[in-house]
Amino acid sequence: MPKPKLTLVRGDLTEQDVDVVVNAANSSLLGGGGVDGAIHRRGGPEIVAACRDLRATSHVDGLPTGQAVATTAGRLPARWVVHTVGPVHAKSEDRSGLLVSAHRESLRVARELGARTVAFPAISTGVYRWPLADAARIALGTVRTEGEGFEEIRFVLFGDDAYRAFEAEL
Ligand code: APR
Repeated sequence: MPKPKLTLVRGDLTEQDVDVVVNAANSSLLGGGGVDGAIHRRGGPEIVAACRDLRATSHVDGLPTGQAVATTAGRLPARWVVHTVGPVHAKSEDRSGLLVSAHRESLRVARELGARTVAFPAISTGVYRWPLADAARIALGTVRTEGEGFEEIRFVLFGDDAYRAFEAEL
């Protein structure tokens, strides 16, 4: 299987016409701000309904940091949303392994769905305060080694600073 095309887009994750968009969720899976808020707002109530089902069945205690789970994408152009929880940045301890895991597990779940194209936001770089350059290094490094089997893996950056940080790492 050839290596996936890695692309950067300056724009809105909710507008991406790909098989899977990855949501930077929190462990509750019940929505929030940032990307999470945009996905639920644009994707509609089907998504949070599917998340509630997960909380009632397979994920009663919520989604642990670094793990991933799929739902419908509701009204989004994408077919599925893969929700993952990135780590909150902490100076006191190195949580890079959890950020690697969030990307690797999202790709694993997307592969199980049969997805060929996946779009990521810059996970953990907003509310969770992960420095952009380090997040870009970890994100691109992980998809380069774990991206087997996909046609395209796209990073959708909302701001110029995020775009430049990822461009510098590509
Ligand atoms: N499309 C693409 N990127 C976006 C969008 C969007 N529509 N909205 C925000 N972003 C960018 C932010 O600018 C940031 O670079 O996504 C990146 C991740 O930021 P957050 O969404 O804040 O995610 P994160 O830092 O992982 O924090 C997760 O925030 O929204 C809550 O419920 C969420 O508690 C969770 C926490």
